[in-house]
Amino acid sequence: MGTRPLLNRRLAGMGTTVFAEMSALATATGSINLGQGFPDTDGPEEVREAAVRALREGRGNQYPPGPGVPELRTAIAEHQQRFHGLAYDPDSEVLVTAGATEAIAATLLALLEPGDEVIAFEPFYDSYAACIAMAGATRVPLTLRAPSFRPDLDELRSLITPRTRLLLINTPHNPTGTVLTSEELAAIAELAVEHDLLVATDEVYEHLVFGAAHHPIAALPGMRGRTVSISSAGKTFSFTGWKVGWVTASPDLVAAVRTAKQYLTYVSAGPFQYAVAEALRLPDTYFDTLRADLLRKRDLLVDGLTAAGFRAFTPEGTYFVTTDITPLGEKDGIEFCRALPGRCGVVAIPNAVFYDDVEAGRSLVRFTFCKKDEVLQEAVARLRRL
Ligand SMILES: Cc1ncc(COP(=O)(O)O)c(C=O)c1O
Repeated sequence: MGTRPLLNRRLAGMGTTVFAEMSALATATGSINLGQGFPDTDGPEEVREAAVRALREGRGNQYPPGPGVPELRTAIAEHQQRFHGLAYDPDSEVLVTAGATEAIAATLLALLEPGDEVIAFEPFYDSYAACIAMAGATRVPLTLRAPSFRPDLDELRSLITPRTRLLLINTPHNPTGTVLTSEELAAIAELAVEHDLLVATDEVYEHLVFGAAHHPIAALPGMRGRTVSISSAGKTFSFTGWKVGWVTASPDLVAAVRTAKQYLTYVSAGPFQYAVAEALRLPDTYFDTLRADLLRKRDLLVDGLTAAGFRAFTPEGTYFVTTDITPLGEKDGIEFCRALPGRCGVVAIPNAVFYDDVEAGRSLVRFTFCKKDEVLQEAVARLRRL
């Protein structure tokens, strides 16, 4: 095959994700896996039953319509109205995708040209860097720094150049748990309008907020026509394996994203789309209980990590806690996470893998709390042996 590397240069260096390495370590060592963010309890029984019914009744077993089944598109539009006061037309302004992951990929592949710059908060969710690279664009990180992990808006302004095409934001933010305030979002929106930028906003943790309120940037003045809002059912309904996600945006943005999406998967998750349509219409008590349960788990893990000697940064949203390992006499999160399963039978993720500026994340380590209380209690007891 000659000397040319098989993997193209856009993806060079983006080998196996750290999640795969750490999850394999968890299995090999029988450790408690607080690395990858997936719940150890499935979502609501009635939603599972809705999927079974759809399968049995032959709804979605063959290719569903490219934009998603009308029942789900309508439910997504209703959900945007019910929780955020945003009106979207289910036919022209909603697109169903294979999880938020495909929505991110299709958005970036559709809207970017080689040479464009994309400003994104780092630490980044790992698919952002890969999709920006696949689009041939350049990522420009705005680093969220400990201990507050809030964006420096003057720095954001200074990063905008004539090549900037898109701002990629994520609120609530994985892995820091930062939830952007309405003031921060207003400042970001003003910059987007002033410089005529597109905005893609990843809101998969929109319902997982504790105290802080989630505000969609699409609701702000001047933003409706330039914003692609992305969310998914995985986190909200604890069915991460179903991979049902969606985009809401103006008709021209949805048409652009759909053009890229149709050549990625075309369609996916037929019967699950009907089930997610039912899930989105669950009563408020479902969403309130989800939040209350996760708040209890957050506090259990934050208190336990603090007692074990970590500096834990209490998240306002998501189901992750970022910690600093410096108080434990440790410096390097990657080394620490590789050794942790052997030392005490727990797996975590080093935040350094989410940064270009590796120094900014070197001593930070992320744990998830979307696990049963008894699993978190056992993990905390193990970590106290450190
Ligand atoms: C910030 C963020 N965006 C997107 C995703 C992926 O969502 P989905 O499973 O719907 O593709 C995740 C999953 O961890 C995430 O943390």
